[in-house]
Amino acid sequence: AVDISKLRAESGYITLDEGYGNTGSCRSAITYIDGDQGILRYRGIPIEELAEKSSFIEVAWLVIFGTLPSKADRDRFSDLLSEHSALPTGMLKHFEGFPPSAHPMAILSAMINAQSAYEPGLMQIDDDASLEVAAARLMSKVRTIAAASYKSSVGQPIMHPRYDMRYVENFLHMMFTVPNRPYEPAPEVAKALNLFLLLHADHEQNCSTSTVRMVASSQANMFASCAAGVCALWGPLHGGANVAVIEMLEFIKESGMPVSEYMEKVKDKDSRLRLMGFGHRVYKNFDPRSKILKKAADDMLEQMDVDDPLLHIALEVEAAALADDYFVERKLYPNVDFYSGIILRAIGIPVDMFTVMFAMGRMPGWIANWKEIHDDPKSRIYRPRQIYTGPVDQHWVPRDER
Ligand code: ACO
Repeated sequence: AVDISKLRAESGYITLDEGYGNTGSCRSAITYIDGDQGILRYRGIPIEELAEKSSFIEVAWLVIFGTLPSKADRDRFSDLLSEHSALPTGMLKHFEGFPPSAHPMAILSAMINAQSAYEPGLMQIDDDASLEVAAARLMSKVRTIAAASYKSSVGQPIMHPRYDMRYVENFLHMMFTVPNRPYEPAPEVAKALNLFLLLHADHEQNCSTSTVRMVASSQANMFASCAAGVCALWGPLHGGANVAVIEMLEFIKESGMPVSEYMEKVKDKDSRLRLMGFGHRVYKNFDPRSKILKKAADDMLEQMDVDDPLLHIALEVEAAALADDYFVERKLYPNVDFYSGIILRAIGIPVDMFTVMFAMGRMPGWIANWKEIHDDPKSRIYRPRQIYTGPVDQHWVPRDER
């Protein structure tokens, strides 16, 4: 076989692939996507099956360790998640340092990185047992940090985790309990959040996962690598799109602008507007996650007897895009973010926490990708090249001559 990297190094050629549209950055056994057919599988299992039958924690274990957990695995992992859910006292003090206006994603990335300072066995993750503890610590602390960042942003006391509660219920408790007012999450709310997290668990080499791998390739620790993933996820073209979708639907509702007029604005390139929640680098048919979420949003609002006007606008936007040549020709279909905001709103999650919820869900994928690099004895540091476009022959000029 031809060794492409050797050939390139010897020939001096550099491949330029802007935005990495056609560049494979790694070999991976975690997630399979067929973008033309709208297929997504974690470790070979269709997302539709997992969405119907599994839970976020089971899927997390599957994504990280490669197989469905036995009952013993599941129980042990659940126990670890509960056991490691509290934050060290020093970490709790950090929350006091953030201004009330701090974005929860800024707090999340900073606090995950800060947690590195409290991790004793950070670099000794050399077998499944130590990985399981590290993964449980990271996933569990992320959940606690996420809820605490919300509480500090609204000026309410931080709620401590409850050891008797499961992962999703415990998060809802930390988010929504206020002193002297106990909160018991409704089963349909816990179910919907479980589904949301499960559908976000991994998605091969997207922007944030590639970032995690990039950082991991320098042998940085799991917490630092995942903190970098949070920063990459924050942007509106990636995880931040779930916020942008709601803002867009709210704009259409508040302004009273007909959907058709909004679509025309989006198609005008000078407007620099995009139809948020539409399009995907890989899915050129439909995003299977958006289909599942659309149905879940429908079911949930019906069960809760909620009539969300934004859902009606969302359906109108979807129908308009499917009938419009601009979107059809470019294969722009609703992505996972299009319906996820409707579900999160119904659960009561505030809009600026939406991307944090995505990060909580994506944590197993980041951990699994970090592990693939960490376990690979042949892994090399990621170090792309560039095509230099600046001046090549300049000289330093004394300050008074410039
Ligand atoms: N609305 C209007 N036009 C769009 C949209 C959109 N949402 N997305 C792409 N296009 C157009 C582009 O303007 C371009 O048109 P042109 O060929 O006339 O120049 C064409 O479709 C191709 O677009 P690219 O930007 O090259 O597509 P790319 O693969 O780089 O981008 C992305 C994918 C970022 C998802 C893009 O579709 C987008 O910005 N969508 C809106 C934001 C969004 O929903 N992001 C969430 C992605 S999923 C996730 O992260 C979980």
